[in-house]
Amino acid sequence: KASRASRKDDHVRLASAQQTEGPRRTDFDDLEFVHHALSGTSPDRVDLSVNLGDWTWPTPFYVNGMTGGTETTAKINRDLAIAAAETGLPMACGSMSVALDDAEAAKGFTVIREENPDGFVMGNLGAGRSADDARRAVELLRADALQLHINPVQETAMPEGTRDFSTWMSGLEDIVDACPVPVVVKEVGFGLSRRTLTQLAEIGVRFADVSGAGGTDFLRIENDRSGAADFSMLTGFGQSALACLLDAPPEWTGATGSTSAAASTTGSTTAARSNAATGDSAGPGAVPSRVLLASGGVRNPYDVVKALACGARAVGVAGTFLQTVLDQGAEGLVELVHTWQTQTSALFALLGAQRSTDLLGTDLLTRGRLGEFARLRGIDVTALSHRSDVH
Ligand code: FNR
Repeated sequence: KASRASRKDDHVRLASAQQTEGPRRTDFDDLEFVHHALSGTSPDRVDLSVNLGDWTWPTPFYVNGMTGGTETTAKINRDLAIAAAETGLPMACGSMSVALDDAEAAKGFTVIREENPDGFVMGNLGAGRSADDARRAVELLRADALQLHINPVQETAMPEGTRDFSTWMSGLEDIVDACPVPVVVKEVGFGLSRRTLTQLAEIGVRFADVSGAGGTDFLRIENDRSGAADFSMLTGFGQSALACLLDAPPEWTGATGSTSAAASTTGSTTAARSNAATGDSAGPGAVPSRVLLASGGVRNPYDVVKALACGARAVGVAGTFLQTVLDQGAEGLVELVHTWQTQTSALFALLGAQRSTDLLGTDLLTRGRLGEFARLRGIDVTALSHRSDVH
């Protein structure tokens, strides 16, 4: 128990250390919009709310799963929850395993409900837990959804981590079947591939957060903890959020038959941005039967807008918001969220989007690492910009 508690504090300390290292280049910098100087609209006409099928969220970004279970992390959850309650931001907590075995530790999670009784709250568990654990986690938090993280890279590098992933798929299936609220399957910063997303769809998962590489780096976090075997040889392993979105399969993007036909004649795959159109009769606002979320390395509203333009319905933020509450408490996060809301509206207006799904009609360019990824995976990003059904 003691080591699990100190692991939670280690994660916060080391994630925060990464936040203060200063800017680094990521795949978000490899995505550009073609600028059209006469295509803009007014921020007054922008509606930031997003429709996820089962839910409507007031903003296209949310607080992603981080922590809980120790004194320090209970305080962090409290601040995050206060800010979420004040701004309407959906919020997830970190892994609740510790809360299921220890009533004292549970308080570090239930504080979220105390501070935010009516908000949208997601519980969190790792793959490998039982269906009964999932039910108990949901109950403890009166959770609206349950995040289930699949983190094999982190487990590999974690000194006390599991190395046996052979039962994860069947365990996941049990939880999806038994969970009283929708399950959101997520990575923790290494991305969900096309194949993984297809596997998830096959077992009935309807919500996935690709949580890609480029932000909080759990390989480094585990490597930096004492007692770690050195897995730094895996540095750079995994895909970024934008790469995952572009790579997502049609069952997650609602890509139409006509686009697939176009793709087969050009020999390339269509990317996730066709998310907007679930069929010829479906307008850009239509919600696909499965909802793709993105996170990993989101630093500012421009990154949010880029992920939305690549087909995410909403965007999770962990490290950036964690650093804000550590530095400036709940008040600091409230202020930051308000700034992000204003700036996101301004960016929508600049790009001529009244709603997030309108961003799917923007002209995108991919360069550098992201461009090479798209090329290697046979994804034609430019062709998608000219799709008539999203204009
Ligand atoms: C995390 N993350 C995480 N995810 C999860 O599903 N369960 C967890 O318990 C944790 N714990 C955790 C602790 C800390 C301190 C951080 C910063 C993050 C991962 C998180 O949800 C996200 O997937 C990654 O951090 C990538 O997003 P950012 O941080 O680059 O925005």
